[in-house]
Amino acid sequence: MCGIVGYIGPKPAGSILIEGLKRLEYRGYDSSGVCIYDNGELFIDKCPGRISVLEEKLAGDPRIETGTIGIAHTRWATHGEPNQANAHPHTDDSGRIAIVHNGIIENYSALKQFLTSKGHVFSSETDSEVLAKLISEFYNNGSSTLEDAVLAALGEVSGTYGLAVMCADEPDKIVVARKGSPLIIGVGKDEYLIASDASAIIEHTANVIYLNDNELAILTRDGLRTLTLDNVPVTKKIQQVEWTLEQIALDGYDHFMLKEIFEQPDSIRMSLSGRLDMRDMRIQLGGLDQVVRDLVRTRKIVLLGCGTAWHAGLIGEYLFEDLARIPTEVEYASEFRYRNPIVEEGTSVIALSQSGETADTLAALRESQDRGALTLGIVNAVGSTIARETDAGVYLHAGPEIGVASTKAFTCQLVVETLIALMLGRRRHMSQQTLERYIEELQKIPEKIETVLKQSEQIRDMTAKYIDYENWLFLGRGYNYPIALEGALKLKEISYIHAEGLPAAEMKHGPIALIHDGMPVVFIAPKCGTYEKILGNIQEVKARSGQVIAIATEGDTEVHKHSDHVIYVPDTLEALQPLLTVIPLQLLAYHAAVLRGCNVDKPRNLAKSVTVE
Ligand code: AGP
Repeated sequence: MCGIVGYIGPKPAGSILIEGLKRLEYRGYDSSGVCIYDNGELFIDKCPGRISVLEEKLAGDPRIETGTIGIAHTRWATHGEPNQANAHPHTDDSGRIAIVHNGIIENYSALKQFLTSKGHVFSSETDSEVLAKLISEFYNNGSSTLEDAVLAALGEVSGTYGLAVMCADEPDKIVVARKGSPLIIGVGKDEYLIASDASAIIEHTANVIYLNDNELAILTRDGLRTLTLDNVPVTKKIQQVEWTLEQIALDGYDHFMLKEIFEQPDSIRMSLSGRLDMRDMRIQLGGLDQVVRDLVRTRKIVLLGCGTAWHAGLIGEYLFEDLARIPTEVEYASEFRYRNPIVEEGTSVIALSQSGETADTLAALRESQDRGALTLGIVNAVGSTIARETDAGVYLHAGPEIGVASTKAFTCQLVVETLIALMLGRRRHMSQQTLERYIEELQKIPEKIETVLKQSEQIRDMTAKYIDYENWLFLGRGYNYPIALEGALKLKEISYIHAEGLPAAEMKHGPIALIHDGMPVVFIAPKCGTYEKILGNIQEVKARSGQVIAIATEGDTEVHKHSDHVIYVPDTLEALQPLLTVIPLQLLAYHAAVLRGCNVDKPRNLAKSVTVE
């Protein structure tokens, strides 16, 4: 998720673009850049780092005060680490066409090959740069206008985009297009603005036009035209923005954590995007191409992480042993680094980290490298230290996660682990038929999560009954045991309620002594191989007057007889259940924190990335 801004009008574009980027910084903040038309040329400047770095770099350059048309971008890297070359804007070889892009071009490598064979020279590792080259390919070979060249180029592209394009040969024009990524146009007096969301616009105007998917607009000093990508004119209504700046960044949600919980259907779609080859029904993970032969033959996998990432590792253990039949261990990175670990030959170590900067995980990774392991990263922050130091890896593509309590990064970690386990499983023993069942079911997960999210208010009302209890238990079995741990951690870290997660069968070996009048006990009890066992565990707790909250499979007619509350989730394959069963627990923790008046997005004593040990 990146942020793009544009301006055409009578005022100097520079400062308007910079202020707009600052407002969009929550969308991505690892590099930024501007393109301003001035004196026959496209003036482009870009750099890694926060917007303030770019602002400093531009300070005093007269062109940002003279040019009155420009586009700009703040980046959340997906392809290519945050650096000068990968920052936007990207241009064609002549530097006379420039683009800024938010989204992912799925067929970029095929397009890059084609364009390279046509003599275009690429200077970045990004998927976005192909758009600049492709547009210029059409512009210089037959398209009479910039918009025609953009239409022709987008006809060749598969993926998502919010796109803005400028051309030095048509200096009073910005062409924008949208498919899958947001893009709005601000209609001011003798001026237009474009942006990924209204926060970059409302300072100038509250009159906006929302572009729909597969639509394109041409903004000139004389006016605005909108077309479909099939070149059919469309009439667009001007609407009023009623939200405050903060509300817009939060997209109308009260907290970033809630926004990120509700973003999970989309973040999972992004995580799957370009990785499920639906034609040949196979999984492709470009980031592992260099090491896949060693990985398929690996003798053991060790998963490293901290906190929520460690919980994702625990589920990874089930996935790699169940789907790929590879012996797997999970390690607290903070313990592994000091334990003088035995890393035998043929061991692959996978470091899980949203930020890619967690000190203990980084040190444990370096320890593994020193002992000769093949090291991989499953990371969200592109270009982060862990991503740079591993031999290979897979990015989550979850977009920036602002809330300290990890939610969408966690479910995307599970998705990526599942993709790797399935890819290795298919190369080791799994039938094509089994793989296809998983691929089809994975594609349905975003929609199934949407049905669970609809129960948010019901979950709030249920939670309200128990927010005064200072001790909770979370219990699960198999794939859902780590979800019990994750549910307990979410509740602890944002509502400050003490909670413990356990394998349900462990209760009899001590913890059941905790159960007393009304104590809330959350059971993750979907239909699975150990369902009957967990029903028994539920009855053990009920018999001791515990209050049972069960997460169960839609259509289950038994569990409600033994539970005080049941939250139903759609059925799916057992290995994919954690992607659904965790959602009610994220919402439960969120509502408990709000009801207890806690600072949800910045809980006490916690940091988003723990870079000290
Ligand atoms: C989770 O909600 C916490 N923010 C924390 O446990 C986190 O998962 C842990 O610090 C690991 O962070 P990382 O994924 O960025 O390495």
